[in-house]
Amino acid sequence: MSLSSTPDGVSVAPRHIRFDIADELKTLWHGNDAFRTAFFNALSLQFPDGEQQFINAVRLYRDQIDDPKLSEEIRGFIGQEALHSREHKHYNEGLKARGYDIDGLDARFRKHMEWVGRLPPSRQLAGTCGAEHYTAVLANAILRNPQWMEGATPAMKELWRWHAIEETEHKAVAFDVYRHCVGDERLRRLVFLFVTFNFFKYTFLNTCSLLKTEGKLWSLRTWMGGIGFLWGKPGVLRHCLPDFLAYFRKGFHPWQQDNRELLESSLSELDRTYSKAS
Ligand SMILES: [Fe+2]
Ligand SMILES: [Fe+2]
Repeated sequence: MSLSSTPDGVSVAPRHIRFDIADELKTLWHGNDAFRTAFFNALSLQFPDGEQQFINAVRLYRDQIDDPKLSEEIRGFIGQEALHSREHKHYNEGLKARGYDIDGLDARFRKHMEWVGRLPPSRQLAGTCGAEHYTAVLANAILRNPQWMEGATPAMKELWRWHAIEETEHKAVAFDVYRHCVGDERLRRLVFLFVTFNFFKYTFLNTCSLLKTEGKLWSLRTWMGGIGFLWGKPGVLRHCLPDFLAYFRKGFHPWQQDNRELLESSLSELDRTYSKAS
């Protein structure tokens, strides 16, 4: 039996797309809404270093995998995350044009990721699985609820759709490696607590820093709108909460949420956009 649990029909392979978003990043690209724009930008700020760390953690165990399907998926996973890291690096560079202190924000997060990179391999891989769970749940939510991206500029919508699709495709790769090479359920869940704390900490800190530059840090209206977007009915995080928590279940696996249909329809949307563009 293969060590891979990625279902048939789901392929993990990078798509080489470059996004021309420099002009859009100079604006409040998400419907001219300061909070929504800051929230997504804050997520983007964590990707270049975060995804490089995911690659590093999986590489630590790559040699122990002798299953051809999973080995192929590891290759695809590394390729996808490397391209996400590259595109989000450009994205974050582009944000400088709006006056944000991107170097300062990067330095703060990099310090944290350097600490993660010094942890024992099993914790690094458990951390990667936990962080991949956050990206997979958010990806599923964004693809399933296109209204959350309403008002965003077309290229930004496409960038986030592309990233969400690939996060869904490879959502179980690090997890399958962990299951085979480490397999400690207690460690998996324990490390998830730390990942949760840090994910919300840096998303919140980055959002605040970006809003400060916008002069909106103390704007009640901005925060009320933001809290509604994240925790209202149906807010992004409120909607995702049960899926986030599913990770604590004994015997949890990412493909217990089978969203292949959503993946297929999202892929045809992406293909339509790019066949039109080319
Ligand atoms: Fe990614
Ligand atoms: Fe990922």
